[in-house]
Amino acid sequence: MTAPAINPFLHAAPGAVAFPRPEKRKPVYALLPDAPVTGSPVPELTSLWHDPDPGPWGDRRYPGICPGSLIRALLRFYRPASVYDPMSGSGTCAQVCADLGIACHANDIHRGFDACEEHFSGAFEFCWVHPPYARMKLYADDPRDLSREPTLAGFLGRYDRLIRSCARAVVPGGHLAVLVGDYTDREWGYVPLVYHTKAIAFRAGLRQAATDIIRFSHGASSGRKVYRKPLIPGLHDVCVVFQKPTTNEEAL
Ligand SMILES: C[S@@+](CC[C@H](N)C(=O)[O-])C[C@H]1O[C@@H](n2cnc3c(N)ncnc32)[C@H](O)[C@@H]1O
Repeated sequence: MTAPAINPFLHAAPGAVAFPRPEKRKPVYALLPDAPVTGSPVPELTSLWHDPDPGPWGDRRYPGICPGSLIRALLRFYRPASVYDPMSGSGTCAQVCADLGIACHANDIHRGFDACEEHFSGAFEFCWVHPPYARMKLYADDPRDLSREPTLAGFLGRYDRLIRSCARAVVPGGHLAVLVGDYTDREWGYVPLVYHTKAIAFRAGLRQAATDIIRFSHGASSGRKVYRKPLIPGLHDVCVVFQKPTTNEEAL
């Protein structure tokens, strides 16, 4: 029997082969499907993002830091001239933009900026937003912090305002990439945030522009925890790229 072909992108990712699991657990390797040859300028950008080395961008001590390597791949694919990151945390997106020579406006509630308010209209070609996954992690000591919403309904109401504000901030034809993950809340149960993100974005008139990008959660702190009850661990989050229509047929 012939051995199945190895996806070259798995091994192209820096450190992928020798990625050490914590607590002396043996590495587990997944054989990824072959990706087709395309005209993409970023062939390693597929529906599976599995780079255990997220690169030098941002601060690894910041809770919920996102992978700069994924942002870099998206920006090389969509080639925007300007980027907006309204929930910048440790500044990962702005640092990637600086490396690529792209203008970036980044801000955060830690600097008194509330991304759920309206700030810009048609000002950027691309928006990167990495929101709190509801109250999975708490961020600023500020009641406007999205992670401080005490009810799921309150969170979803403010999340709707965030997505609409980001949609308004991009130019017609521009893109909005949201990195988000589902999680299980101690009171609210399973919270399907990827579903809610899409539902809100579609109601706001955005269209999904590409496949879901499943981001493997290498290095997540939850991977080092021990849970007594049986559960199916989530080992990924999802990046969804939306596009704002180029015409006015769907009002935002
Ligand atoms: C998942 S973290 C983003 C991490 C960031 N991508 C990085 O690589 O460091 C979510 C961020 O949203 C910020 N945040 C929460 N509510 C906010 C709000 N209403 N307006 C602006 N930023 C907010 C938090 O302070 C936190 O930095």
